[in-house]
Amino acid sequence: MKSRKIEAVVAFLLTSHILPVAAMDSYVGAVYEHNVTYPADRRTVVTRSQALNVMLKNLAVFAGQADIAASRNAQIIVFPEYGLYGLGWTRQTMFPYLEYIPDPAARMWNPCNRSKPFDSEVQTELSCLAKTHSLYLVANMGATLPCPPGDTSCPDDHRYQYNTNVVYAPNGDFIARYFKYNLNKEEFSYFDKPAVVNYTKFTTPFGTFATFCSNDILHEEPTVTLIKKMNITNIVFPSAWREQLPLMSAIEFHSAFAEGMLINLLAANLHIRTMGYYGSGLYWPTGVSINASYCYNDDVGSGGFLVVDKLTPFTIPSGRPIQSQHKKQHDLINRKLNSDIEMFSDEVNTNISRQISINGDLYTSVLITEDAGRTTVCQRTLCCTVMYEGGFSAYLYAFGAFDGLHTADDTYYLQACAFIKCANNSAESCGQPTKHAESYIDKMTMQGNFSAPYQYPEVLTIIDEEPSLVTEIWYFMAGSIIIDAGLSGETITVGIMARDYNKDPR
Ligand SMILES: *[C@@H]1O[C@H](CO)[C@@H](O)[C@H](O)[C@H]1NC(C)=O
Ligand SMILES: *[C@@H]1O[C@H](CO)[C@@H](O)[C@H](O)[C@H]1NC(C)=O
Ligand SMILES: *[C@@H]1O[C@H](CO)[C@@H](O)[C@H](O)[C@H]1NC(C)=O
Ligand SMILES: *[C@@H]1O[C@H](CO)[C@@H](O)[C@H](O)[C@H]1NC(C)=O
Ligand SMILES: *[C@@H]1O[C@H](CO)[C@@H](O)[C@H](O)[C@H]1NC(C)=O
Ligand SMILES: *[C@@H]1O[C@H](CO)[C@@H](O)[C@H](O)[C@H]1NC(C)=O
Ligand SMILES: *[C@@H]1O[C@H](CO)[C@@H](O)[C@H](O)[C@H]1NC(C)=O
Ligand SMILES: *[C@@H]1O[C@H](CO)[C@@H](O)[C@H](O)[C@H]1NC(C)=O
Repeated sequence: MKSRKIEAVVAFLLTSHILPVAAMDSYVGAVYEHNVTYPADRRTVVTRSQALNVMLKNLAVFAGQADIAASRNAQIIVFPEYGLYGLGWTRQTMFPYLEYIPDPAARMWNPCNRSKPFDSEVQTELSCLAKTHSLYLVANMGATLPCPPGDTSCPDDHRYQYNTNVVYAPNGDFIARYFKYNLNKEEFSYFDKPAVVNYTKFTTPFGTFATFCSNDILHEEPTVTLIKKMNITNIVFPSAWREQLPLMSAIEFHSAFAEGMLINLLAANLHIRTMGYYGSGLYWPTGVSINASYCYNDDVGSGGFLVVDKLTPFTIPSGRPIQSQHKKQHDLINRKLNSDIEMFSDEVNTNISRQISINGDLYTSVLITEDAGRTTVCQRTLCCTVMYEGGFSAYLYAFGAFDGLHTADDTYYLQACAFIKCANNSAESCGQPTKHAESYIDKMTMQGNFSAPYQYPEVLTIIDEEPSLVTEIWYFMAGSIIIDAGLSGETITVGIMARDYNKDPR
């Protein structure tokens, strides 16, 4: 079982662009990665009481974990998406698992004080868990709502089915409901996409939180509006995220997003080891880098895991152009970049570029076979440069640039620079997932001239044969990652994923 804290920041670079909220103490957050119990047959319609049996088994585990979290002073706990029944349904087989979930803004309801004359066992259980342990509780469940009269887009079965996040206050009050807006392909066969996006936030004594789930994090709505227009810096994020190395494993992308967006992200993932669902954590920005408490466990026989740690609420003066937000750090990093460029300028890697596929995208890449060097690769309008020093010559690495539409599992416009470990020493294996590396980085500077304004930096290594977020010093600013001290883990990925949401297909 892996759980570790990381520190990745240069203290002198810390400045005041992240302002602690006056009179607000830090808070203790918890996420539970849950090894969900789900029926083997999800294609046969079951009765409500059979469905409830499955959900109560999972809720019993939630109860035990809420208890442990509370004993460790957690004030808010997040459970994963699909944590009550697993994935892989049809519209009809999903139905017995759903409950009518009223609008909490329309009328205050405390399911634990008073249950309703409709199926609301799950809501009652969740509300009572929050109340018993006196903490904010965030969970994901299924909602069914009748179509309003005269609704012309009403489905044939006269009801809507929504993938829903629910939030309860420490007294059990139901305070927020969010219908997932960005469904993945599979989900369309059992859930409806809400007609309009709903921005869902709630306030606590320790800050304002917003919630969305899973692949919402890849899209503009509701994510960017909540963070950049409504200035919310705490996000509770139930998810069911399948590992996609080398660039999109859960701990890797979720931490990168927290750093790029300057938010505290509380990400609870589902644990289904055999299907690649794992990796949960609390991720918080430190100014120019990221700190985190997380778990990553793909071992045979692995199960759920609770992560608890302290986070600091903060506000950011947003609305300023992203690139100029960190003027002082930016200048320091630029000076460093220029000196690096001089230092490495006579070691240009002249290897012929080739197309390699990473997470389904064709990157223009060169192979890295020397211990130190400098190389630039370009695709369309993006040029990526890397200067590196380490132990690479015995193992094959590739460095690539991508500028285009990602279409493999979801569709969005991506620009990326990526330095990755190839799966073995044949060029054909570059881009394929690997959890094996024996080479380290002493120093690296990576830079891309992204036109995409939102940039998410990733540094992933292997420690004890498992992917790990980096524990040493590196920092990120305006299109650049600088690794200034040797990494103790073996390196599998250094990359920057950049997004220009305006260029996404509508
Ligand atoms: C990172 O988090 C740990 C606690 O989880 C804390 O002790 C440490 O000071 C943090 N580091 C920075 C640079 O914020
Ligand atoms: C969005 O959420 C608010 C608050 O819960 C609610 O009043 C409103 O009806 C919701 N809108 C839709 C379209 O679901
Ligand atoms: C439910 O009971 C708690 C006390 O146990 C109280 O604080 C809360 O206001 C009640 N909520 C409703 C909606 O009645
Ligand atoms: C978000 O922050 C910006 C800049 O500080 C401010 O102009 C804007 O009014 C804020 N928006 C909200 C909803 O607080
Ligand atoms: C996780 O769930 C699977 C499937 O239900 C089960 O076989 C396994 O024993 C569970 N692991 C743990 C550690 O509970
Ligand atoms: C270019 O690649 C070849 C193997 O394909 C390798 O032998 C050579 O050292 C590489 N050159 C550089 C500068 O990386
Ligand atoms: C390297 O990986 C490729 C692609 O997965 C595979 O076809 C090849 O057999 C592997 N080569 C070695 C030497 O393991
Ligand atoms: C990035 O650099 C290349 C090469 O100098 C240039 O052709 C391209 O226009 C630049 N892209 C942007 C967005 O500035």
